Amino acid sequence: MKIFDGKQCVTALKANLKQKIEELPENKRKPKLAALLVGDLAASQLYVKNKVKTCEEIGMISEVIRAEENISHNDLLEIIYRLNSDETVDGYIVQLPLPKQIDESKILLAIDPKKDVDGFHPHNLGLMLLGLETFVPATPKGIMSILKSEKIKTAGAHCVVIGRSNIVGTPMALLLSRKGIDCTVTLVHSQTKNIKEFCASADILIAAIGKANFVTADMVKDGAVVIDVGINRIDDPSTPKGYRVVGDVDFEHVKEKASFITPVPGGVGMLTVISLIENTWMSFCRTENIANG
Ligand SMILES: NC(=O)c1ccc[n+]([C@@H]2O[C@H](COP(=O)([O-])OP(=O)(O)OC[C@H]3O[C@@H](n4cnc5c(N)ncnc54)[C@H](OP(=O)(O)O)[C@@H]3O)[C@@H](O)[C@H]2O)c1
Repeated sequence: MKIFDGKQCVTALKANLKQKIEELPENKRKPKLAALLVGDLAASQLYVKNKVKTCEEIGMISEVIRAEENISHNDLLEIIYRLNSDETVDGYIVQLPLPKQIDESKILLAIDPKKDVDGFHPHNLGLMLLGLETFVPATPKGIMSILKSEKIKTAGAHCVVIGRSNIVGTPMALLLSRKGIDCTVTLVHSQTKNIKEFCASADILIAAIGKANFVTADMVKDGAVVIDVGINRIDDPSTPKGYRVVGDVDFEHVKEKASFITPVPGGVGMLTVISLIENTWMSFCRTENIANG
């Protein structure tokens, strides 16, 4: 059994991008990622901070645009339009969730698809559905990088994805079923009957639910590949913070059955930021007519 080393994988991906940026001609501008942060939610601030830090490490420019929690829908749209027309910005993200007074779907629709590096715009989701080059949402993209870097055999494998969210489960199921990846995919959710049986037949099991330790050892086939997307806080008085972060998979028991497993923390989550930044690089290459090698 192998436990995935997210840090090692990300270090390699970062080094690859850093080198590409370093090799840009001196007279060429550097790629730039912007992040729009509304309000002061601690988790959102932390996510944006990680994105900025990664940009700095690889030599990409980043900018954080902060807006007050009580910003009006129209004022937020104004910021979006400004980012759309700012030629120095290759891609930007609107950190979710947004405050109640904002219509999230209208904001996401206003993002220029050419700068939608989160890949949430219907235009980009449509391109992905057709198998055309586009910005793939960061978490599924990161999981595809894991499967590729670990040389996990996907052709003909039965893959069960638990969870059907627009940002993880649904795009994941789609990507795995594409020609060239060739998994046979089952997508299960809260209304699925016999979920245990489905999971136990999976060669590749991907859990994106948001429920601590949901996947137990009896739900996993011997030798399966187990990818844990979940991020859940559970109380743990023995830690200084009083809690710890666990995934959707009962790691300690499932690792005894799996042939490969991603831990939480230190697994899929490590790949999400670099995948977003890879999308920004792709946007930069399109604008600057650079082969995205
Ligand atoms: N590592 C990362 O970088 C990363 C990125 C994104 C998300 N996450 C984490 O991944 C988890 C999932 O995120 P998300 O945004 O996809 O969550 P979400 O939007 O809440 O979707 C959860 C999905 O799980 C399904 N589900 C809930 N309870 C279930 C049950 N008892 N049996 C079967 N399916 C069940 C839901 O089914 P219904 O559709 O029927 O309600 C839904 O499709 C969360 O812990 C989140 O924090 C991690």
